[in-house]
Amino acid sequence: MASWVLHAMLKDKRILLIVGGGIAAYKSLDLIRRLRERGAVVRGVLTKAACEFVTPLSAGTLLGERAFTDLFDRQSEFDVGHIRLARDTDIVVVAPATADLMAKMAHGHANDLATAILLATDKPVLIAPAMNPRMWSHKATQRNLAQLMSDGIEIVGPNDGEMAEARESGPGRMAEPLEIVAMIEGMFARASSGKPLAGKRVLITSGPTHEPIDPVRYIANRSSGKQGHAIAAAAAQAGADVTLIAGPVNLPDPAGVRVKHVTTAQEMLSAVQAALPADVAIFAAAVADWRVAQAGDQKIKKGSGGTPALSFVENPDILATVAKPGPQRPALVIGFAAETENVIAHAKAKLASKGCDWIVANDVSPATGIMGGDSNSIHLVTTQGAEAWPSQSKADVARALIARVADALAGKRQ
Ligand code: C5P
Repeated sequence: MASWVLHAMLKDKRILLIVGGGIAAYKSLDLIRRLRERGAVVRGVLTKAACEFVTPLSAGTLLGERAFTDLFDRQSEFDVGHIRLARDTDIVVVAPATADLMAKMAHGHANDLATAILLATDKPVLIAPAMNPRMWSHKATQRNLAQLMSDGIEIVGPNDGEMAEARESGPGRMAEPLEIVAMIEGMFARASSGKPLAGKRVLITSGPTHEPIDPVRYIANRSSGKQGHAIAAAAAQAGADVTLIAGPVNLPDPAGVRVKHVTTAQEMLSAVQAALPADVAIFAAAVADWRVAQAGDQKIKKGSGGTPALSFVENPDILATVAKPGPQRPALVIGFAAETENVIAHAKAKLASKGCDWIVANDVSPATGIMGGDSNSIHLVTTQGAEAWPSQSKADVARALIARVADALAGKRQ
C-alpha cells in the first residue's frame, strides 16, 4: 500500500490513548505526536501510576486538550463521563500496558478511569505491553495475555532489548511509537475491508487428543492448542461462523466461536462430522495416531505380571476422511504438518497422501520452542509450491492464514 494511503488512514480517526504507569510512558508522549501529525484526534487518559512518570500537563500540551486522570473527577465526569470516553472513539490504545493493567483487564476490574473505560468500551482495543522481562514471562502475565487475546484484544510488542533498569534484557520493551502507529493503521485497514469471511462456515480442530490406557492413565502429546485456537479467533474476527473442535487444552474458548470439547481422536472425528458441512476446514489438532486397543476398565495394577503389554490400533485420520472427494467436502481443506526434520519434503508428501489443498508445515524440534510457545515460523505448502513465512506470533500467523483463506475463497489466489 502506498505510504500516502497509510498516512491518510488515521485522518480524523478518534483514538483514546490510555497511558499506564511504567517508564515507557515517556514514549507515549511521542506516540501522541505521531498520531496527531497523521490527522488523528487523540484523547488521553493517564492512570494514577502514569502520573508518576509523565505529567498530565506534558500529555495535555501534546494532546492540545487536558488529559483525563481520575474516575471521580467531578468536572470530567460532568463534561464527558467515562462511558462517553469509552464509546466516543474509534479505537482504545493502551500504551504502555503494564502487567498490573493487563491483569485488571483480564479480570474485568473497573476501579479507576482507565479500567472503567476498558470495561465499558465497545470499540477495538490495542495494548502495547511494557514491563520487566521476568514479569512478562511470569505464568500469571502469560495467562492474562492468553485471556486478553481470546477476548479479541490486539497486542503489539513487547520487543526484546535492554531494560531501562539495571542491565537487564529480554522481552519487555514497549513497541516503538511508529510500530504502534503501524499496528493501529493495520487495524483500521482490516476494519475498512469489512468482514472477508462473513457468511462462511469454518471448521477448525485444535489441541492434542488423549487416548486412555485405563481410567486414570492416557497417552498424549505436547500440543498446546495455541495456534489452532488463534486461527479460530481470527476466523471469527473475519466474520466467519466458526466451529472449533478442541481437544484437552489449557486455554479459554475464543470469543465468538462455537466450541465442542472432546478428548479422544474418535470423539474428535464424530464432532467434526457432526459440524459439517463447512466451506473451509482447518485441521490444526495434533491427533494421536494410535490408541490402546483395549483400554482397561479398571486401573492396571503394578506388581502382578511384570510390565503391561499394550497393543495399539490406528486412529481414524480425520483430515484424510474429510478431504475425500464428495458432496460434504469443504471447498478448502487445510492440514498441518508438525515435523522435526525435512519439513517441506514431508509436507509435500502429506499434501498428496491426505488429499488436502494446503499444508501448514512447521518445525517442532524442541530447540525451535514452537510447541507450546507463542510464536511460529511456518511454510505454507500448496500445489503451487512452498512459501516461507517470517517468524511471527501465533496470532499473526492465524490472521495471515485467514486473510489467505479469504483471498482463496474470493478466487483471488491459490
Ligand atoms: O500424519 P500426521 O498426523 O502428521 O498429519 C497431520 C495432519 O493430519 C494434521 O492436520 C492433523 O490435524 C491431521 N490428522 C487428523 N487425524 C489423525 C491424524 C492427523 O486429522 N488421526
